Amino acid sequence: MCGKAFALPVYPVTRAKFERSVLKPIVFILSLAPAAYLVWALLLMLGVTTSGPDLGADPLKAITHETGDWTIRFICLTLAITPLRKFTKWNGAIKFRRMIGLFAFFYGTLHFLIYAVADRFASLVDFPQGIVSWDTAHRWLLAVWDDIAKRPYITIGFTALVLMLPLAITSTTGWIRRMGGKRWNTLHKLVYVTAVLAVIHYWWLVKADIRSPLMYAVIVAVLLGLRVIWAVDKSRTASGRAVAVSRVVQRAE
Ligand code: HEM
Repeated sequence: MCGKAFALPVYPVTRAKFERSVLKPIVFILSLAPAAYLVWALLLMLGVTTSGPDLGADPLKAITHETGDWTIRFICLTLAITPLRKFTKWNGAIKFRRMIGLFAFFYGTLHFLIYAVADRFASLVDFPQGIVSWDTAHRWLLAVWDDIAKRPYITIGFTALVLMLPLAITSTTGWIRRMGGKRWNTLHKLVYVTAVLAVIHYWWLVKADIRSPLMYAVIVAVLLGLRVIWAVDKSRTASGRAVAVSRVVQRAE
């Protein structure tokens, strides 16, 4: 027998590689899970499957609520990435921000489209020119637009979603390069406005029990408050440094 020991080759997995090849796919699949669950519920509703999650008597309304919940959750998660990075010193966390932000936009768009079908399309009681016609499309768009203009919580929700559009479009590295880091960062501060509008949207739509919107209001307030504290800290440090430099210069003169 040969006495030579066989050692398995060891390929060192760097932290960056682990984040990219293991953590990112896991986060992606987890983020998609709520959508998969809702599609499954929809298939059950349409009779395509015989088993699945039962969303109650009005599944489309339930899906509107579920997608709204996931939109606000992903907005909060997007805002939580920077604090997570600062508190844990895990710089790799930043690599997840774009994906999570895009999932917020994805669920927001789904939420809007389901509302447009479940609420607005359902409000068209008759179809004089047939269900698939320009007349129906026109009346449907008008029904959506009228509602956005008339109901304040819908106006606010729609504004929050529209503000996410430029963020989703410019989320790529190409756009960061084209715009320059400073302008890109300024534009992406729009997510703060979206978060506040999302809370107002939720607050205004609930009839009595404000516990859930209140919880999101507190989360958003903490996440935005931290940024205010850091900004104040940064400007104090910068002005402190400027004073120290000017003293040194004065002494040298
Ligand atoms: C960033 C964008 C948005 C966020 C974060 C958001 C979030 C939410 C949340 C959390 C709910 C309540 C869910 C629950 O009760 O469990 C909700 C409900 C709802 N949202 Fe949104 N929403 C957004 C945009 C929109 C838009 C664009 C529309 C329509 C134009 C819309 C229409 C509705 C409707 C109709 C409901 C259900 C209201 C009811 O049943 O009384 N939302 N949304």
